[in-house]
Amino acid sequence: MDTGGKTITCQAAIAWAVNSPLSLEKVQVDPPKAGEVRIKLTSSGICGTDQHVLRGQLAMNFPLIPGHEGAGIVESVGKGVSTVKPGDKVLTLILPQCRECSSCLHPTGNFCDKQDVIPSSGLMMDGTSRFTCKGQRIYHSFRTSTFTEYTVVPEIGVARIDDEAPMDKVCVISCGLPTGYGAAVHSAKVTPGSTCVVYGLGGVGLAIVIGCKASGASRIIGVDINEEKFPRAKALGVTDCINPQTLEKPVQDVVVEMTGFGVDFAFEAIGLPEMMVAAWNSCHISYGVCMIIGLAPSSSYLSLEAPKVITGRTMKGSALGDYKTRDAIPELVTDYLKNKINIDPLITHQLPFNQIHKAMDLYNAGKTIRCVLLF
Ligand code: APR
Ligand code: ZN
Repeated sequence: MDTGGKTITCQAAIAWAVNSPLSLEKVQVDPPKAGEVRIKLTSSGICGTDQHVLRGQLAMNFPLIPGHEGAGIVESVGKGVSTVKPGDKVLTLILPQCRECSSCLHPTGNFCDKQDVIPSSGLMMDGTSRFTCKGQRIYHSFRTSTFTEYTVVPEIGVARIDDEAPMDKVCVISCGLPTGYGAAVHSAKVTPGSTCVVYGLGGVGLAIVIGCKASGASRIIGVDINEEKFPRAKALGVTDCINPQTLEKPVQDVVVEMTGFGVDFAFEAIGLPEMMVAAWNSCHISYGVCMIIGLAPSSSYLSLEAPKVITGRTMKGSALGDYKTRDAIPELVTDYLKNKINIDPLITHQLPFNQIHKAMDLYNAGKTIRCVLLF
């Protein structure tokens, strides 16, 4: 049946309010407007950021359809869309690439003006939503919303990928892989023989580990409060695992002692301001680089010992690995197809979309790295 131009009724997971369990509902998905693309999802990862959204840690409008790590097939396109067509395989992008704003025009910037993460309106670029449920407007999350059979996204927030891409897996290359791996290889440019510490050994943290290892780091210290994360981290290249809750000293002091002077590169992949400070204090006082990858709660602040900021250390934030998303993310998919990057160890579970509650329970119990929902 040709659905182009028509409203589609399908199943979606709605968060009606902060901290309320996801509810599987019939939703109406409007056709894409000018410059927009409607996608039939094939898979979606569940990322730490989705949990930040559901717990109300980010200032966002509810009710909303969460999810942003999506892979799917273009179902129809709105007026003026020229870079994708129905049938194309695509990934959804939490950071679009408009190719016109100051970030996009800059040689290295990637935090496109048209993003809807910080701040988040929950609406498309024309200020309206494409989702309705029981007559009520439902907000988008980050202009992606992937916990639904169909979604509508801006054309500038879509990466067209290789026709050969396995659509049950590559959703991880929409966010978790570039965010972590890119932070190491592209943002920090980890050097051969260097020492690294990674705070948080979830999907993003392990993608950082993969990047550090690929860059030739000689020592990679992994930090997590969930020791169940340690075996997989070690298999991917972590040389020392530490649990801050079993230490007698602050974790940053232990990292400095282990390495003599502090690490060359520290990464925070949890999203907690106090762990960002720990990462800062873990790296070499003169030339260490502290990378902030975790998304901290809205209106939270970092508190650094001010005199020690002059000493030469660098703190740098990185979203989606500083990649210019529409240009670089399709290349990462191709690198995966060519066996240059392996995302398979990041995917620990795959479940049908209608088992999303089980998937969230597994995530909340700390049992998953990435649980991929299959449509
Ligand atoms: N100290 C150390 N580790 C912690 C702590 C803590 N205080 N709190 C949580 N962790 C660990 C968890 O046990 C988990 O292994 O951090 C890890 C977070 O992993 P995930 O929940 O799988 O989240 P992930 O998808 O990896 O995202 C991590 O990156 O992009 C951001 O917004 C995202 O802030 C999030 C972060
Ligand atoms: Zn832009």
